[in-house]
Amino acid sequence: MSDSRALAIEYLKQQRLLGGDSVILPGGWADGQTGRPEHDAAAAEPAPAVPPMRPSAHPPAGISFDPPSGDLFANDPIQRTASLEDIATLIAACRKCKLCEGRTNTVPGEGPATARLVVIGEGPGRTEDETGRPFVGRAGELLTKILEAIKLPRDQVYICNIVKCRPPENRLPQYDEIAACLPFLYRQLELVKPKVILAMGGTAAQSLLSTKQSLGSLRNQVHRFRGIPVVVTYHPAALLRNPNWKRPTWDDVRIAARLLDN
Ligand code: URA
Ligand code: URA
Repeated sequence: MSDSRALAIEYLKQQRLLGGDSVILPGGWADGQTGRPEHDAAAAEPAPAVPPMRPSAHPPAGISFDPPSGDLFANDPIQRTASLEDIATLIAACRKCKLCEGRTNTVPGEGPATARLVVIGEGPGRTEDETGRPFVGRAGELLTKILEAIKLPRDQVYICNIVKCRPPENRLPQYDEIAACLPFLYRQLELVKPKVILAMGGTAAQSLLSTKQSLGSLRNQVHRFRGIPVVVTYHPAALLRNPNWKRPTWDDVRIAARLLDN
């Protein structure tokens, strides 16, 4: 398959999954674009004259947006999963990005399929990698306390991450790693259908909402992911380093609690 065709298919899948008009392409920008309009405009060749459209007996060569037969996505293994366990099985076998090389265990997420709240973090740390469970280290203990503060026992919440494998030395997940892993999260959200999503930290908020806006500018308002209210707040690990953020986090979490009670 040509690169452009593969990219086009990825684009269409993401359009469908996101239900919106912003997409993330693995490998960054196509055709050497930097994504910064001022650069791309300067680098661009003058556009070739476009020949007038002519009816053709054959489909044009190159990209076709006509779905083949049936559902274009019917054979996507992630879309075909019927349960959170099925998704975890696919994640355990996933080698779509380089994080698979350093992992001890995949960390798909855990909690009831009927959870009304889904909490999304960034990615597994050391303890999570060792155990295969999300948020079980120090940050996880703090998360458990935060949830108890809004009278939500942790075992009633579905808890997961943007990337399902530990980044080396806990570095930030990279763009291609996030893009490779997001389809698992999208499917988890489709199956759980939570009433509210709590995105903790910049990586979770920006990846879920397809934005580069800072965490500070995203918190304190209710966003939507495919119609589901999304509340954004600080990451518990950041709270351990910066206790000044506990107060605003508490405000955010109460917004989530209020949405759950509505
Ligand atoms: N930090 C995260 O973002 N996720 C975890 O699962 C643990 C720590
Ligand atoms: N900035 C982030 O990206 N995350 C935090 O949790 C706090 C500040």
